[in-house]
Amino acid sequence: MKRLENKVVIITGGAGGIGGAASELFAGEGANVVVADLDEKAGMRLQAKIAANGGTCAFLRCDVSRSDDVRSVIDFCKDKLGALDVIYNNASVYLAKLDGRVTEIEESVWEKVIAINLRSIYLFCKYGIPVMMKKGGSIINTASSAGVIGIPNCDAYTATKGATVQLTKSMAVEYGRYRIRVNCIAPAAIITPMVKESNPSDGSDLFDERAFLNLRTPLRRYGTPVEIAKVALFLACDESSYLNGSVIVADGGITVCGDLSKIPE
Ligand SMILES: NC(=O)c1ccc[n+]([C@@H]2O[C@H](COP(=O)([O-])OP(=O)(O)OC[C@H]3O[C@@H](n4cnc5c(N)ncnc54)[C@H](O)[C@@H]3O)[C@@H](O)[C@H]2O)c1
Repeated sequence: MKRLENKVVIITGGAGGIGGAASELFAGEGANVVVADLDEKAGMRLQAKIAANGGTCAFLRCDVSRSDDVRSVIDFCKDKLGALDVIYNNASVYLAKLDGRVTEIEESVWEKVIAINLRSIYLFCKYGIPVMMKKGGSIINTASSAGVIGIPNCDAYTATKGATVQLTKSMAVEYGRYRIRVNCIAPAAIITPMVKESNPSDGSDLFDERAFLNLRTPLRRYGTPVEIAKVALFLACDESSYLNGSVIVADGGITVCGDLSKIPE
């Protein structure tokens, strides 16, 4: 028996990056995957790839910050697929060069990041949880190292990720009685387009990849999208049946690391 046999799973931002890896992994485990993403080209490509591998996937174009779009995705699950078992809130943006310190961020940038990264979770949970209540289910939110420690120069992003950690905990307490488990993954340094944007290698002093890997990353390497997708799979399926309100930090040890330069070579 596959681990997500016949489960209806929404993956937001599921067309690429970590979400794309999760869409393929979950479909391979028997899930009926619904990808809610803005990127139509990548979404259609992924839908075809999963179908070619014998899986089930529906791509729905959705801006996760828009209530109408989110409600159409939930209605699709309820009316066309007859269930909703897992919501993987994965979509987010990191607006490089626009996000920064609070004194510098434009109000419109602040609002946009909050809407895509945080309001999206509120919307999917607000409209999705009532559909899940009869049978129970699993909600997986996505924070970041920025939700656990202070990361400079991305205060809007950091604010959404800290809020995601806390929202996970309060929802876990509220909806546990309906057999809905709510957990969170806090990744860092996963090699996707986002990590490249947030760590520019543009010749400036802003980011030194070698220093990053040698001084901040105990495993001395980036993580891969599928390494996070596997954590999400664990949280989605019954193997994690007694996890509720947990924050799984999946960052190769970055957030527990003080100063690697103190370690002799
Ligand atoms: N990559 C990392 O190192 C890292 C670190 C910490 C946290 N995270 C978190 O992991 C999650 C996935 O990150 P990633 O690196 O795969 O990002 P990514 O940028 O590679 O992929 C994000 C996906 O979300 C989609 N998306 C963006 N805005 C959207 C919107 N308004 N509506 C619908 N879809 C939208 C994009 O089209 C894309 O498919 C995010 O929540 C991110 O904050 C990633």
